[in-house]
Amino acid sequence: MKKQETVCKVAFVGSECYPFVKTGGLGDVMYALPRALIREGCECRVILPLYACIKDQYKQKMQYKGSFMMDLTLEGRTFYVGIMELEMDGVIYDFIDNREFFDWGNPYTGLWEDIPKYCYFSKASLAALNYLEWIPDVIHCHDWQAALVPLYLKTKFWNCDLKKSKSMLTIHNLRFQGICGIQHLKYWSGLSDGLFDYPVLKQADDEANMFKGGLAYADAITTVSATYAKEIQTPEYGERLDAHLRYHSTRMKGIVNGIDTDIWNSSTDKLLAAPYDVTDVLEKKWENKEALREQLGLSRDDGSKIMIGLVSRLTDQKGLDLVDAIMPEIMDGRTQVIVLGTGDPRYENAFRYYEEKYPGDVCAYISYNEGLAHRIYAGTDAFLVPSLFEPCGLTQLIAMRYGTIPIVRETGGLKDTVLPYDEETQEGNGFTFVTYKPDQLLKAVDSAKDLFFGDRQKWDAMVKRDMMKDVSWEQSAKQYLEFYKELMA
Ligand code: ADP
Ligand code: GLC
Repeated sequence: MKKQETVCKVAFVGSECYPFVKTGGLGDVMYALPRALIREGCECRVILPLYACIKDQYKQKMQYKGSFMMDLTLEGRTFYVGIMELEMDGVIYDFIDNREFFDWGNPYTGLWEDIPKYCYFSKASLAALNYLEWIPDVIHCHDWQAALVPLYLKTKFWNCDLKKSKSMLTIHNLRFQGICGIQHLKYWSGLSDGLFDYPVLKQADDEANMFKGGLAYADAITTVSATYAKEIQTPEYGERLDAHLRYHSTRMKGIVNGIDTDIWNSSTDKLLAAPYDVTDVLEKKWENKEALREQLGLSRDDGSKIMIGLVSRLTDQKGLDLVDAIMPEIMDGRTQVIVLGTGDPRYENAFRYYEEKYPGDVCAYISYNEGLAHRIYAGTDAFLVPSLFEPCGLTQLIAMRYGTIPIVRETGGLKDTVLPYDEETQEGNGFTFVTYKPDQLLKAVDSAKDLFFGDRQKWDAMVKRDMMKDVSWEQSAKQYLEFYKELMA
């Protein structure tokens, strides 16, 4: 068969990627988007740090591709850069090896160490591409950890072939920006003084901001939903960068995330008690629910209770203050709640408290657990994502794909992906609210319960509608490719 001609060569640079290392949705996107782009005819490489926490099963498959010394810091100290490579389903993964930076942490340890770590990683990623003589059309960088790539590209790498490459920087979460004292960043990045001015890296007296600099220098900016692209240009959501983003907005687009529909496929999912598709979801969801109750020690019932799930990093971003405020009202004797997550002890303890207070009806599983996450998406009836802000959000997409009705706040990607249920037209995918207030969330939860208990046929129709909704990467990968082509033109 004739090999398809490559339409675009893309290098992804970011700090996490499933299945090697993942703390949240960034890891999912770094895995799924390159695979979707390959289906569109792209060639993709993903560049990642070789963290110690990456499992041996992957490390053993890696091949040594070479090493060299690279200068970093104002003093021009030199550091080892090793390149370890692995191919998986057509995507090439290049891991940057340096024990000094990556041998501890999971993968983040705290800003003081993370700033040097990701200065090193950003520069080493470009140096590795140069060493491998693989010149991408687009270097697609993700979040603040890779934000210095566009700056290095247009300064330190301007005298080599890489200068032909365009850079794109995607904002997955503007909350985290890589902010530190100017001297600290000046020292570690080794970037020239001229860049430490207000239009680029400087944010305030003695404050440097890596994301800000990257956004100023990237050839293109994207974020993970159209609504978040608008929101971050306002002071409410802009995390102090709203004016900077308004200034650079002509180069910015919002492209909504998808999910990998092979991993998140309820009919082939080996982690489920009873795999299912849209034709047998109603019976099988019941089996999955029973198995989940059994596994988590929740009380069995005759089928009269609604089960609500929540899988999340436990941070204030996720609207957990609202959930905390209304838990006593949610727990009305006909409801069970399962929370899976880790994070802020404030929320971990709040959910532990409710587990004790409502034995058999609340489960607070304070941990990170991929298998259990799959079983919760499959076994619950409704799924909570009442976020304070949400750049895109993947959990509501997975929930819908598994026939679980999302209850979300209309912000960022939640607004763009969950159409509110409309009683009259019988359209919509879930229950939504706008204002960030406990009573508004409660109203949405109560509307969900009214339909679940009051008109199961209509509820079931929504379950099926959600399973049929296109939440794959296909359309969004096409939009990225269009944007790459605009840059290459
Ligand atoms: P964010 O990136 O802000 O954390 P997303 O909704 O984009 O939020 O992505 C979260 C991803 O992490 C999803 O794949 C979700 O299933 C997963 N996840 C979050 N917490 C856990 C957990 N405790 N155990 C397993 N998976 C989790
Ligand atoms: C971030 C955001 C989340 C988004 C994910 C992947 O972690 O918090 O909303 O889905 O990145 O883009």
